Amino acid sequence: PFRVGDPISIQAYRSLMDLRAAHSLRTPLYKGFTIGLNFRLPPPRQPLSHPRSTDPLMPTDAVRKAPHPPTEVDMTYILCKPLQTGPEYESEVWLAQPCQPFSPGAPTSQVVLKFVIPSRLPRPPTELTEGMLHHEFEYTLPGDVLDCEVRAYEWLQDLQGSNMPYYYGVHQVTMPWDEVAYVIALEHVSESLSLSSIQRCIDPPIADDTNTTECTKYRDFASYVKLFTSALSALQRAHSWHIHHLDVNGDNILVDETHDHAVLIDWCNIAHLQVDEGNLGNPYEWARSRDLHLLLHTFAQCEEHYDNFAQYVRDNHPDFKTHYVPFKPNVYYA
Ligand SMILES: Nc1ncnc2c1ncn2[C@@H]1O[C@H](COP(=O)(O)OP(=O)(O)OP(=O)(O)O)[C@@H](O)[C@H]1O
Ligand SMILES: [Mg+2]
Repeated sequence: PFRVGDPISIQAYRSLMDLRAAHSLRTPLYKGFTIGLNFRLPPPRQPLSHPRSTDPLMPTDAVRKAPHPPTEVDMTYILCKPLQTGPEYESEVWLAQPCQPFSPGAPTSQVVLKFVIPSRLPRPPTELTEGMLHHEFEYTLPGDVLDCEVRAYEWLQDLQGSNMPYYYGVHQVTMPWDEVAYVIALEHVSESLSLSSIQRCIDPPIADDTNTTECTKYRDFASYVKLFTSALSALQRAHSWHIHHLDVNGDNILVDETHDHAVLIDWCNIAHLQVDEGNLGNPYEWARSRDLHLLLHTFAQCEEHYDNFAQYVRDNHPDFKTHYVPFKPNVYYA
């Protein structure tokens, strides 16, 4: 969309994106907005041929059933509920359903649509050079932002239904303000049950004297640890394919309570350009450490389970101990 190393073209791109962002405030996405989409079938769920496929950390067979949005056919989808909307977010995330009548009792055909919108992404620095792109992780090109997330869904297809949402492809769409954006279509995993909401339930906010007895099965430490091992095995599997999450946090881990699966969403991954060279040593090793560090940090953010969790990591992952001792929760939900 602009020439790296050419400040004039970068400035022009920045101005264009600012203009589009301003338009989007006047005509935002709304409930009832319709989009034509042709979903592709998710690939059959089977382990890919891979040296690690006998790894004992491989996910179990227990999986969620795939939802059944109509596939390989032109359909019109209507946005029915925002999961995340507003100019302060880089992506808009909506629940959508086909406009065509839905027969009662049929499996759900609702899907999550994640809109990746160029004008919501950070602007390239005017002085951006190839060197900054390749060496310093200062800026990711808009195309790479999308490619990286999509590559995670495509390469980790055998985790769909366990540690990944089912994936129905990436589609080009025109936003109500006439900007071309991309939409990633995914299974709706659950009604906003994220690891952070579970942690808030286990450790209610100090200021919140209601709901202290609200029940979650993850108040039980053994159940809580199942979510950790589930997320860890998914990350290890991803790393063995050179896919990295890079933004592990409690909002990006959804919870499938039926199977005790951690479902990882919002994969930043690592742009291929950025791994060719770099001043970070081995970028894959850097990315792997970052994921494991953030995972431990995320699961340590629970006062009730903190001591048991730290002990669990010391006992079961002595290799992590020196590098990634989880630290005391530093975020209190006051
Ligand atoms: N497949 C899904 N099922 C259920 N909820 C989802 C799903 N995908 C996203 N969500 C909800 O929408 C929120 C935002 O989605 P996501 O994390 O992918 O976007 P994001 O954090 O805005 O990404 P970005 O960092 O690009 O701005 C999630 O925290 C979650 O609550
Ligand atoms: Mg997120």
